[in-house]
Amino acid sequence: MLDGKRLLVTGIATGDSIAAAVAERALLSGAEVWVAAFPRDVPAAKAVAATFPKPVTVTAVDATSEEDLTVLEEDVRRQWGHLDGVLHAIAFAPQAALTGIIDVPANAVETALRTSVWTYSAFGGMLGRLAPPSGASLVGLDFDSERAWPVYNWMGPCKAALRSLNGYLARDLGTVRVRSNLVAAGPLRTRAASGIPDFEVLVHSWARQAPLLWDPTDASGVADVVCFLLSDLARLITGEVIHVDGGFHAMATWLNQSKC
Ligand SMILES: NC(=O)c1ccc[n+]([C@@H]2O[C@H](COP(=O)([O-])OP(=O)(O)OC[C@H]3O[C@@H](n4cnc5c(N)ncnc54)[C@H](O)[C@@H]3O)[C@@H](O)[C@H]2O)c1
Repeated sequence: MLDGKRLLVTGIATGDSIAAAVAERALLSGAEVWVAAFPRDVPAAKAVAATFPKPVTVTAVDATSEEDLTVLEEDVRRQWGHLDGVLHAIAFAPQAALTGIIDVPANAVETALRTSVWTYSAFGGMLGRLAPPSGASLVGLDFDSERAWPVYNWMGPCKAALRSLNGYLARDLGTVRVRSNLVAAGPLRTRAASGIPDFEVLVHSWARQAPLLWDPTDASGVADVVCFLLSDLARLITGEVIHVDGGFHAMATWLNQSKC
């Protein structure tokens, strides 16, 4: 499905990272993969990459640094010449922004927005400049942001902003045949998830309410849909958000109560 595609994958911190599942499946589907990892996570990303079915390049990139992004873009241009797709799997919020909404210091919110939202537009710009004439695909990861959760706090508005940005990037990148889409995943036990206070509330809600059995330790179903969006099969899809959440988003809350 991804034969010959040159893909940049961000967001590998552990073997449980959603991005690790995507990179592995993309390699098995015929892609070449370049991993851009947060500098502190490079040793761990290299250890994960060593388990992949094919060798990959791993470079250090702080996605909030314009300088790092410029260096990455130049490296990719020099070594690969073009880029067919990018997975953006980056999110971070300081604890203060994850424990509440009101009276959170502005700099905590700024960090969360810069890391979790602005970086998506930065990779979109990079892909727009590196895409071949046949086009390319940008994919990001959402957590359903249409309602307020009992947990999640400022990551909720961050994801809502990401969703809005997805539409604007689809608008502006469409002219160079670059698509922008999000996959809204259900709760998966990753390092980022472990930083969200009371994350288990979400896991338990899914166990009660999702019509399909949801395994919070298995990112492969999410990875498969990301790979589809990175492929030519999705060549006419842009500005879309695909829920890969076992159907949770489509259920009314009364079902939750009736099953309790
Ligand atoms: N785990 C879930 O339940 C879930 C559900 C829906 C969406 N998501 C989203 O999936 C994406 C990946 O998260 P994950 O759950 O795989 O967790 P993860 O902790 O494995 O990945 C998050 C990644 O963000 C990277 N990162 C943070 N700041 C960075 C920076 N400045 N520069 C470069 N990289 C940086 C980290 O190095 C890490 O690899 C995130 O956008 C997250 O919000 C996760």
